[in-house]
Amino acid sequence: GKVGVLYGGKSAERDVSIMSGTGVHQALRNAGVDAHLFDTGERSLAELAAEGFDRVFIALHGRYGEDGTLQGALELLGIPYTGSGPLASSLAMDKIMTKRVWLHEALPTPRYAVLDAETDLDNVISTLGLPVFVKPPHEGSTLGVTKVTRREDLAAAYAKASEFDEDVLAEAFISGRELTVAILGKGANAYALPVIEIVAPDGNYDYEHKYFGDETKYFCPANLPEDTTRRIQDICVAAYRAIGCEGWGRADVILADNGEPYLLEINTSPGMTSHSLVPMAAAANGMNYESLCVELLADARC
Ligand code: DAL
Ligand code: MG
Repeated sequence: GKVGVLYGGKSAERDVSIMSGTGVHQALRNAGVDAHLFDTGERSLAELAAEGFDRVFIALHGRYGEDGTLQGALELLGIPYTGSGPLASSLAMDKIMTKRVWLHEALPTPRYAVLDAETDLDNVISTLGLPVFVKPPHEGSTLGVTKVTRREDLAAAYAKASEFDEDVLAEAFISGRELTVAILGKGANAYALPVIEIVAPDGNYDYEHKYFGDETKYFCPANLPEDTTRRIQDICVAAYRAIGCEGWGRADVILADNGEPYLLEINTSPGMTSHSLVPMAAAANGMNYESLCVELLADARC
């Protein structure tokens, strides 16, 4: 049947989504799928309903694409779609709610505070120490994120994050190695792909380094002892299941210098650009970009 690749959209990650969607569309076409691009930032839900898609591949990132709103609309329209449902999508889009769920399940995640306009910032530093990460809880691709190393820079970091979100996340900095783990499947059948280690210049894996630079190095599978790899994969699968993710996802992890892994977040519509990490992990497991797209589409939920 006719397949829609939903891309573009209205979030701050629109440009990333255009890269992801273009790649997915091309791959599905190459695989013989009758795939069509549909930009949810330029066209309405009514048009989407009228297009007669049998299923859709969600290649959108961020708000109104990855955050459960679109997933809810697709449920109402009765169009099967890739990835997680409305609840898991909206939980995962919120880094604070994600932590609350994980902490409830005794999964490791860095200590945090929620900041608003009334928060005593000195108190935050006393509690979380320095450096501290300041993040808008509903964004992706490192947008609005600051690593604060000096007390006097916290107010500016809060102001920057609060341009994206009313409540802001302050997260304790964990010194360690930056890892990411792709997870496929659902419930008891969910499984992790090989762990990737990211080595960015000066440890700064920001928007530029995620999508454009060539200085960032990736190691897949990451050079880790087998038992460490297994433990990290188990934690990531548990984190995915705790949120209720389906189809696919990518958990971002810091392996602390003391050997303990800490979960940072989980992405329910991970990047599918030429620089992206889920395709890299799938390739290490013998699944090329095209097969990955076809498999995710076949798993689309109704
Ligand atoms: N938010 C970006 C697209 C990612 O997680 O890959
Ligand atoms: Mg993210």
